[in-house]
Amino acid sequence: MRILCIGDVVGSVGCEFLRSRLPALKKVKGIDFVICNGENSADGNGITESSARFLFDSGVDAITLGNHAFRRKEAYEFLDENPFIARPANFPEGTTPGRGILNIDTGRRIITVINIMGNMCIDNNLDCAFACVDKMLEMAQSRIILVDFHAETTSEKRAMGFYLDGRVSVVFGTHTHVQTSDAQVLPGATGYITDLGMTGTKDSVLGVKKEIIIQKLKTKLPARFDLASGECKMECALFDIDDNSGKCLESRSLRIE
Ligand SMILES: [Fe+2]
Ligand SMILES: [Fe+2]
Repeated sequence: MRILCIGDVVGSVGCEFLRSRLPALKKVKGIDFVICNGENSADGNGITESSARFLFDSGVDAITLGNHAFRRKEAYEFLDENPFIARPANFPEGTTPGRGILNIDTGRRIITVINIMGNMCIDNNLDCAFACVDKMLEMAQSRIILVDFHAETTSEKRAMGFYLDGRVSVVFGTHTHVQTSDAQVLPGATGYITDLGMTGTKDSVLGVKKEIIIQKLKTKLPARFDLASGECKMECALFDIDDNSGKCLESRSLRIE
């Protein structure tokens, strides 16, 4: 089974670019399942029912989230109801909308999707990422397990990759919006990349107008983050998985322009 993982889709610009490229890519590469990070898919950040539906209608099978998961209150009910969106599992139990693990029946196979947030240099009062992922794995109904580790530091992400090596099919990092060049199959046959990158405007800082970010960093004053416009890219990675064992056979990062 060939799985495509797509990095943080930023705003309507990113959503529309994904829609313009994904259908052809799926055909050309023979992709069976598509997962993307949608925590920035709504304009103004977060995810809404309409940005999620746009991604699903464009050929995405599952969406993961991150630190912006709960920015849009109007989406909370939708997160509760939709079985194809995972939010970080290490938020408090009982009070957090949505779910941290999905067991998706594709007809051919069940695919388990887990979303976890890091503890370093990000909303770091969440439950321990490592303990949380162990707890989630007990609820996995498949050997094909994809983990989106939404974290800031490369060290924490690589440590999570090795922690899960041999226990899951793929660990991919998200959140930094910058693609790393370390797509690989770890020794225990887990596909891994530290960060998938971003789907959005090339000439930007994390999809936001670069001038705004520079000004904010210089002045230390709050600023409204307007989305940049212009040429786009879709950064992603392909993983070939053995259907029966769930082991990763091959991995490759891609940048579609
Ligand atoms: Fe993001
Ligand atoms: Fe993030």
